[in-house]
Amino acid sequence: MDYRTATAARVAGIAPFHVMEVQTAARALEAAGRTVVHMEIGEPDFPTPAPVIAAAQRAIAGGGVYYTSALGIPELRQAISRHYAERFGAAIAPERVIVTAGSSAALLLVMALLVDRDQEILLSDPGYPCNRHFVRVLEGDPVGIPVGPETNYQLSADLVLRTWSPRTRGVLIASPSNPTGTQVPPDELSKIAATVARLGGRLIVDEIYLGLSYDSAPQSALTVTGAHADDLFVVSSFSKYFNMTGWRLGWVIAPGRHVRDLEKLAQNLYISPPTVSQRAALACFEPATLALQEERRRAFADRRDFLVPALRELGFGIPVMPTGGFFVYADSSRFAADSQTFCRDLLEAVGVAITPGLDFGRHRAEAHVRFAYTIEMAKLEDGVDRLARFVGGR
Ligand SMILES: Cc1ncc(COP(=O)(O)O)c(C=O)c1O
Repeated sequence: MDYRTATAARVAGIAPFHVMEVQTAARALEAAGRTVVHMEIGEPDFPTPAPVIAAAQRAIAGGGVYYTSALGIPELRQAISRHYAERFGAAIAPERVIVTAGSSAALLLVMALLVDRDQEILLSDPGYPCNRHFVRVLEGDPVGIPVGPETNYQLSADLVLRTWSPRTRGVLIASPSNPTGTQVPPDELSKIAATVARLGGRLIVDEIYLGLSYDSAPQSALTVTGAHADDLFVVSSFSKYFNMTGWRLGWVIAPGRHVRDLEKLAQNLYISPPTVSQRAALACFEPATLALQEERRRAFADRRDFLVPALRELGFGIPVMPTGGFFVYADSSRFAADSQTFCRDLLEAVGVAITPGLDFGRHRAEAHVRFAYTIEMAKLEDGVDRLARFVGGR
């Protein structure tokens, strides 16, 4: 073995984001003078709210940008706890709130807390790709459970029960989901929590898109799972609803008995979440910021209401209306057997960038693509016109 090239075996199991290749190809087209409609990007186009930027500037000007507690600054932990009470009617003690470097760090901490080598975590396929990689890095086994329109592209209590094995440690659900934008109905989520508890496992719920719910008031797993709420890990983030992707700030609500171990892990893995971002994020919960974000949520809803019928009209299969987030997961098999080739050809021919299903798992990945409505309406309309030209000729 050549010591200069040898790496740990776990690296081989980590797949790159195919969407990055789409993005690189799109940038190359733009450099060559073409215009591209970007529907591949999973981050909001809206800028960080002005009060948040002003709070960050004050924090920097005030000096003292030092490490904080690994659990986050107390004011922010309290503010998040109040937010759960006001927005979701959930009474969460601030001591259960751990502020993290994005929800990515929250997911990594929780996996590091729970998963031993060869233990399984059940996930939906399709699902957010990093989750299976977090489990792999810890030498656990991510088990992708194929899901489709019958269950809203989400896990159900029945699927969990049928897939559970002696090696299963827990279940991870994202609701609303990336890539499908669909949610687990509250009664089903409650059943899943009861099932997982009965089987002696742990339930992790990723609610990073929950604030972006369009058809009904958002309901946190912390309110719908009743007696099981104290045992949940609920992950969330400032990235999406608050338009703070680059600030790298998220959180996890953990069962009180695990906070000390999560603190130890955070101290060792990254010392503390970013200090300026934490001070800035305090402004997220001011009424003016919340009013602005609600306006933006409504703009996302309008985009969804335009895009989904337009894609259906063109012949894409969208059997379940996405109710949150900013993604549409569409069946493209009417146009091409392989969605990766479809994405490449679409970009090349008419300059529309979308993501192939392959990024989100294996289950019917070749038959699906993901559209992100993270661009303004005029650009979405342009994208749909271009798509119409492309698929009309097929
Ligand atoms: C479902 C889901 N969870 C977690 C993340 C991680 O986001 P962040 O680390 O910015 O909070 C993403 C990002 O796209 C996501 O889609």
